Amino acid sequence: MSNPASPPAVGVVDDRPPLTFPPGFLWGAATAAYQIEGAAAEGGRTPSIWDTFSHTPGRVVEGHTGDVACDHYHRLGSDVALMAELGLKSYRFSVSWPRVQPGGTGPANAEGLDFYRRLVDELLGHGIEPWLTLYHWDLPQPLEDVGGWPARDTAARFADYATLVADALGDRVRYWTTLNEPWCSAFLGYGSGVHAPGRSDGADAVRAGHHLMLGHGLAVQALRAARPTAEVGVTVNLYPVTPASEAPADVDAARRIDGLANRFFLDPLLRGSYPADLMADLAKVTDFGHVRDGDLATISTPLDVVGVNYYSRHVVAAPDPDAEPEPYWRAPSCWPGSEDVRFVTRGVPVTDMNWEIDAPGLVETLRRVHEEYTDLPLYVTENGSAFVDEVVDGRVDDADRLAYFDAHLRAAHEAIEAGVPLRGYFAWSLMDNFEWAWGYTKRFGMVHVDYDTQVRIPKSSARWYAEVIRRNGLAAQ
Ligand code: FCB
Repeated sequence: MSNPASPPAVGVVDDRPPLTFPPGFLWGAATAAYQIEGAAAEGGRTPSIWDTFSHTPGRVVEGHTGDVACDHYHRLGSDVALMAELGLKSYRFSVSWPRVQPGGTGPANAEGLDFYRRLVDELLGHGIEPWLTLYHWDLPQPLEDVGGWPARDTAARFADYATLVADALGDRVRYWTTLNEPWCSAFLGYGSGVHAPGRSDGADAVRAGHHLMLGHGLAVQALRAARPTAEVGVTVNLYPVTPASEAPADVDAARRIDGLANRFFLDPLLRGSYPADLMADLAKVTDFGHVRDGDLATISTPLDVVGVNYYSRHVVAAPDPDAEPEPYWRAPSCWPGSEDVRFVTRGVPVTDMNWEIDAPGLVETLRRVHEEYTDLPLYVTENGSAFVDEVVDGRVDDADRLAYFDAHLRAAHEAIEAGVPLRGYFAWSLMDNFEWAWGYTKRFGMVHVDYDTQVRIPKSSARWYAEVIRRNGLAAQ
């Protein structure tokens, strides 16, 4: 018997009883427009905040940009053929807002929409369900120039854009995600500033978070109006947050971070209110004067599905009283009002991002969403890991990544057995790509990309995943 850390070697027939997923389980892989498309100035596309940010010296490791990325814009046909070869049942991609609505206002750019029409038709032609995300962080730069997400009007602009895309693709796309990970857009983009647009102001981050959710709610309504049969959802990135000890101060630190990381979004989206303790924590940052009557009703417009992205767990401790006189929390932070909470490492194995590998955290996260928030069908819309890969004789044997997927799929199965209506799983990512502030230095793909030649090589994890899909499950432990 092998253990979850050492799944059977690729190509080895495994005769252990299979761990089977429910019939129709949607097996997929995910990417995002700016991370793979390239063709940044082609087909009428204009800059997004990520173009500006990545072209600003010092923002992205080694000055990498998404100008070319994986050149997917020109390789759509062969990339979809590769997906088909792996047997993917679904492909989650995002639409680049400035490609289909340059500048973020006004009419659609037909050439931009055509690219996505071709992509969707190619997918459907191979029997692959398209799963469309409207916003994976590439706000048109002119909208940032007039205030970005901290400005209320951006929410209305987003709903207009949603209508343009729904009108063009609604006849052939069933699954729609409004936002990807609004926590990152708000708190990394406007709080710590490590993501585009690179601003750091706690109050702006909180406003951005609210307006992202408002834009989501308006977009849900716009999508339903354009396409009543669409299955509409949102994707949040969630973390279990664990106190480093049972000391009340550590437990309180965990409550605060859980509030900002998880409940800031889950409560408005699924319950129509902000948690009182979170608002109290944020009192020194904002008076929430940006929240208007009716916003929370819009934000909590009923959904059809909820997407969860899961990577790791946060373990936190109370502020360090010895950190004076130059407290580390004076640095720009993605935890406004709780800048002084300490993030603790436990010494467990980590990925190349230094994120702790914690598969049981996926079970916890999915159970929490289901048991505390909603009966809606859930999908893991992203899960995966970066590791340093080596190409040897034209092969990439990514045993670490494969083991990560294996462990997390076992966790997903455990969640289903515990009653979670989990209906699908999307590996992050289909292929290596532009990992935001890390540029091309971190590889998350199941398919290796040589950025000089654009040659794709399915890694061992891709071959293994193809087998998982084929058998609709895993070998039992
Ligand atoms: C998520 C993002 C995705 C990718 C993974 C590693 O936060 O949604 O684009 O960067 O992390």
